[in-house]
Amino acid sequence: MQADTQPKQFPEGFYWGAATASYQVEGGIENNDWAKAAREGRVPVAGRSSDHYNRYEQDFDIAQELGHNAHRFSIEWARIEPEEGKFNEREIAHYRAVLQALHARGIKPYITLWHFTLPLWFSESGGFERNDSPEIFARYCAYVVEQLGDLCDSFSTMNEPSVLASNGWLRGTWPPFKRFALTDFISITNSGKSFEPKPEKGIGAVRVFFKVRKNLARAHNAAYVAIKQVKSDTDVSVVKHVILFEANWNPINKALAWFANWQWTHVFMKRVYKQCDSIGLNYYFYKKYGDTHVYEKTDMDWDIYPQGVYGGLNMLHRYGKPLFVSEAGIADARDVHRAAYIQTQVQAIWQAIEDGMDVRGHLYWSLLDNYEWALGYEKRFGLVEIDYETLERKVRPSAYVYKEICINNAL
Ligand code: BGC
Repeated sequence: MQADTQPKQFPEGFYWGAATASYQVEGGIENNDWAKAAREGRVPVAGRSSDHYNRYEQDFDIAQELGHNAHRFSIEWARIEPEEGKFNEREIAHYRAVLQALHARGIKPYITLWHFTLPLWFSESGGFERNDSPEIFARYCAYVVEQLGDLCDSFSTMNEPSVLASNGWLRGTWPPFKRFALTDFISITNSGKSFEPKPEKGIGAVRVFFKVRKNLARAHNAAYVAIKQVKSDTDVSVVKHVILFEANWNPINKALAWFANWQWTHVFMKRVYKQCDSIGLNYYFYKKYGDTHVYEKTDMDWDIYPQGVYGGLNMLHRYGKPLFVSEAGIADARDVHRAAYIQTQVQAIWQAIEDGMDVRGHLYWSLLDNYEWALGYEKRFGLVEIDYETLERKVRPSAYVYKEICINNAL
């Protein structure tokens, strides 16, 4: 990678901003599978969170002040469809107001239609284990696009299907807490857990995992078709979490890395890429088999390797669609690594564009500190720090380093 001091200019119209997800920041959501799991003591309580549901204007003022021209957020399915087939117009009005608030500040919205949390009626009846889940999901997606499509032209159907399927159906750390014990040996990342789920017996557990993963791909494809029927000119994407698996010289390690990339990324992408107008990349992890290098760690205990975003983009580049970095970020409560992390990452994205990849934007995870799923509120990913007692917002110094990049459209 080039290490000169020339400014690294990005293409005109490049999108810079940050991302959030409904359940992680909005507060006040009680009718989804995570809220139920919290009531049962299996995951931390999200509660009022950062109250972004009521304070989004203040938060978008900060984003605007920080030079962002794009923002990714998700719609809470349980708010929109609290009962099967019954849609809540008041919540649609809320999200319309959110979109208008972004437009008023010159910020392009990227909507994620579903970011992990499911309405109770759906999760309790089997969720994505249901054979008809693709149709149910597509109906919800088409409804939202019909209602919001005049205010937003970029919709991602789902966030990180592989993460959801493996945490929910193999590792058992997320709803619906199904665990296949063998997986413990092959997990390379730790997203935390609040209790010890009992392993499901037998190979049947793995079969359910494969079924869910397939249903998620079918659900994306069905949603794509349904969305195009209500709004043919909208951009529909999937947000894919890519773990960059690499290897040293050893052929066994090379085979392992090939297999891991194929299982984690390509099995799903091959099923859906034809129904994608663009693809979002969420990048957090790098794993090089046979590598003995010791990396600095984030507060999640993840290796700090932001330049790996290049390899993540390269992995998705083969699908021939425009790409955007829909998430990439670091838990760093003391804000000592974040600025360098962002700069290195942005340099790697610049290099990817130089090398011919069609990358359109970068959305740092996250604008605000948020509910980090099974780990609750302790991990701090935000450009903006939240005091959960007072709900005071405080911009972290690294956010200003990112601001320079955003306003100059260059590093
Ligand atoms: C998810 C976010 C999460 C972040 C950090 C991503 O995998 O989309 O919801 O907070 O990673 O773990």
